[in-house]
Amino acid sequence: MPSNTSVRLARRPSGTPVPDDFAITTEAAPEPGPKEFVVKNTMISLDPAMRGWLDDRPSYLPPVGIGEVVRAGAVGEVVASQHRRFPVGSYVSGTFGVQEYALSDGRDVTKIDLAQGTPAMHLGVLGLTGLTAYFGLFDLGKPRAGETVLVSAAAGAVGSIVGQLALLNGCRVVGLAGGPEKCRYLTEELGFHAAIDYKADGMRRAMAEACPDGIDVYFDNVGGTILNTALTMLAMHARIVVCGAVAQYNADAPTPGPSNYLALLVRRATMSGFLVFDYASEYPVARRRLAGWVADGRITAPETIVAGSVSDFLPTFMRLFSGDNLGKLVLDISG
Ligand SMILES: NC(=O)c1ccc[n+]([C@@H]2O[C@H](COP(=O)([O-])OP(=O)(O)OC[C@H]3O[C@@H](n4cnc5c(N)ncnc54)[C@H](OP(=O)(O)O)[C@@H]3O)[C@@H](O)[C@H]2O)c1
Repeated sequence: MPSNTSVRLARRPSGTPVPDDFAITTEAAPEPGPKEFVVKNTMISLDPAMRGWLDDRPSYLPPVGIGEVVRAGAVGEVVASQHRRFPVGSYVSGTFGVQEYALSDGRDVTKIDLAQGTPAMHLGVLGLTGLTAYFGLFDLGKPRAGETVLVSAAAGAVGSIVGQLALLNGCRVVGLAGGPEKCRYLTEELGFHAAIDYKADGMRRAMAEACPDGIDVYFDNVGGTILNTALTMLAMHARIVVCGAVAQYNADAPTPGPSNYLALLVRRATMSGFLVFDYASEYPVARRRLAGWVADGRITAPETIVAGSVSDFLPTFMRLFSGDNLGKLVLDISG
């Protein structure tokens, strides 16, 4: 019987997670009981939201318990099964955790179609981040041709797809990213109309210059100062899509709300949050559309795939906060 190495939560992080917050344990791999199967994880998804799941506060999912395997999306192959719908050899995605083997009863597990895309793509553009971009932009942002769409963390997994979907919709697309390399990537490789290096001086002026008619849709992945600045440049009836607030996830004290929020009143604007999970019944249609756009070259799905083992979880995860990823960040443990 193979062994199963897992990363477990040893204690709740205070601010930025450190190695002592986690324990790496090894035990025998699980065996499937009736109507169960075992997945050998090959790719583990790294998502900023995982940081929030480690905190003991009310959210849309219960916090990861002390001693539990760190919650993470993953793709893998079924290697033992007593489940009719998931025979040995199936490729699946689900919340399998930061571990080598996961036991599942099939709930919330998706069989993946490798003809549509690689396993990593099923965590990115065809997985939750691509779907997040799709539903957040189309359902809440409601972009119309000619409108200006501003997106933060624009070179990341969600942001890079948001910007390209907005381009497909005929919008003027402006991205915010950290550093000149990422900004060059956005304009030269992905075709954004403008990109702003928020780490350089003059972000406010650059934003105003890039959005001369105001911002119709702000797709917010980061919160903080960028959100507060964008609020001052809204066009009439603007829509702010609250997707996430990565700038705040490691804060060790509550972050003040955006002081410029009254711009919502002045501009008759809306600011709405959403969770991609609420669109689960529509995933297959959205995934087919996204796969089609990837296949015909209309969208590019940047990825940062880090080869390693589950022990590399923490340094790999922290790349999301230092910005050391382009597109979807995945830990490849298949080697
Ligand atoms: N609502 C939902 O259902 C849902 C679902 C999935 C994801 N999300 C949210 O979507 C957002 C993007 O997630 P993702 O998986 O695509 O991650 P990502 O954008 O691929 O990675 C995070 C990026 O955030 C940027 N960043 C980190 N710290 C920052 C800071 N202090 N200020 C500004 N930017 C910062 C970094 O890029 P730079 O180099 O540009 O700084 C980094 O690459 C997150 O907020 C996540 O929680 C929401």
